[in-house]
Amino acid sequence: SKLDTLYRQVIMDHYKNPRNRGEFDGDSVTVNMNNPTCGDRIQIQLKVNDDKVTDAKFVGEGCSISLASASMMTQAIKGLKLDEAVAMAHIFSDIMLGKEYDEERFDLGDIEALQGVAKFPARIKCATLAWKAMEKGINDHK
Ligand code: FES
Ligand code: FES
Repeated sequence: SKLDTLYRQVIMDHYKNPRNRGEFDGDSVTVNMNNPTCGDRIQIQLKVNDDKVTDAKFVGEGCSISLASASMMTQAIKGLKLDEAVAMAHIFSDIMLGKEYDEERFDLGDIEALQGVAKFPARIKCATLAWKAMEKGINDHK
């Protein structure tokens, strides 16, 4: 469908032109995590100030879904409070499980393009990798 084509384009755009790819100089919350099903690895870094994520970056090796998801995630959480970022990770995993989410509370933005991944169980781990790493980083930091 047209929507699937659009979503594919959004995912490929994040894959080819990743937002926030790179590493910070100096202090940051850093988490490395691998996807046990394929061995691909991602590093997420968060700048945390006053209980807020002020900036986020990622580097890693992975498939288009995992890297596009990391790009979207780093964009989505900038400026969120730590609790809000964790809540967003939970909502994202609900979406990947095909569950309903509160649209009033949660503006999907580009993340919407990943909803179709929910149909492919093998790829859900790809899509959630960066989000799990982000959540772990915040929990470790607390
Ligand atoms: Fe991620 Fe195949 S490329 S599951
Ligand atoms: Fe390894 Fe998708 S196939 S992260």
